[in-house]
Amino acid sequence: MKDTVFIDACFGKKTSYTPVWLMRQAGRYLPEYMKVRERAGDFLSLCKNPALAAEVTLQPVDILGVDAAILFSDILVVPLEMGMQLKFVAGEGPLFPRPILSRGDLDKLVVEEAAEKLSYVYDTIKLIKEKLPSDKALIGFCGAPWTLATYMIEGSGSKTYSKVKKLLYTDPAFLHAILRKVTDVLKLYMEAQIKSGADAVQIFDSWASALEEEAFFEFSWSYMKELSAYLKGKYPHVPIIVFPKGISGYLDKIDGEFDVFGVDWSTPLELAKEKLGSRYVLQGNMEPTRLYSQKAIDEGVRHIAGVMENERHIFNLGHGILPDVPVANAKYFIALVHEITKR
Ligand code: CP3
Repeated sequence: MKDTVFIDACFGKKTSYTPVWLMRQAGRYLPEYMKVRERAGDFLSLCKNPALAAEVTLQPVDILGVDAAILFSDILVVPLEMGMQLKFVAGEGPLFPRPILSRGDLDKLVVEEAAEKLSYVYDTIKLIKEKLPSDKALIGFCGAPWTLATYMIEGSGSKTYSKVKKLLYTDPAFLHAILRKVTDVLKLYMEAQIKSGADAVQIFDSWASALEEEAFFEFSWSYMKELSAYLKGKYPHVPIIVFPKGISGYLDKIDGEFDVFGVDWSTPLELAKEKLGSRYVLQGNMEPTRLYSQKAIDEGVRHIAGVMENERHIFNLGHGILPDVPVANAKYFIALVHEITKR
């Protein structure tokens, strides 16, 4: 078991300062990342190249001084290796040209074979662990079944989620069948990430807020809970972080076997503390666009540090860092968190 400030904080142990990392910390705001991506050719080739993916994973640890590295990959490599075509269109984001339309489409997707084909992710993790300083932790990750199923059905990002929600209300059994298959792959995939050396894991439910309360618990949360209970049962020493984005109205009903609850920026941290702080370590939640201004960072960090004083906390943004944020400001944020949370 790894004894780092980050892992200690995930289990609610007292640490000498509050650890910090950034969602999407390996990415386009770093010129060093852009150089490696160019060498790889394109984004998916970079994900599939363990040596280069390991290199970009380590960049923010060296450049920013964050307390944890997050595996460089993407949540969408899972549907890709289940058998779906995937393209990343420059400026437009991910695209599945042939989304799931019928049960026949679902039947063609593979489970065990997908987890095996993702071996480039496991190789990346092993390479990262050879080079990661011993006082830093490595976070593995996956998308939540709901968020992945949404991409697989919509084919791309969506403003209305009308295709997946039409299915939810017209053929819920079919949507459950999709979620079941994705969850089965994720169990094997996350287990393999842990066996390869991931010290902690995060489940990203980026599209949780598309659902009304009852539907969220039936179609999203239940599958995240099942996945985390499965992993906790086998690997209790590996902390699990969940990040369901945009569900501040549903916090009363949150339960399950995970360690850290990721608070998105639109949820007041005071509210998350009141509802969940006694049961889970909280992670977050500075508004990502505060990183455009050092004054806004100062205010944001001081506010959060004040709310979480003497509470169990991991500092982060409340969603991913944006590509046009100045690197100097990201460094400033990390250094400020370390300085003002020192105990
Ligand atoms: O956090 C990290 O640094 C690790 C790497 C990581 C990426 N994607 C790399 C990436 C992680 C954890 C993700 C997760 C991810 N991917 C999520 C969940 C987190 C969230 O932001 O809500 C989602 C919804 C995706 C799907 C995805 N991948 C989208 C919508 C896009 C395009 C939009 C965008 O940000 O450009 C991607 C591409 C992607 N994934 C990039 C990176 C660095 C940009 C690709 C590039 O280099 O051009």
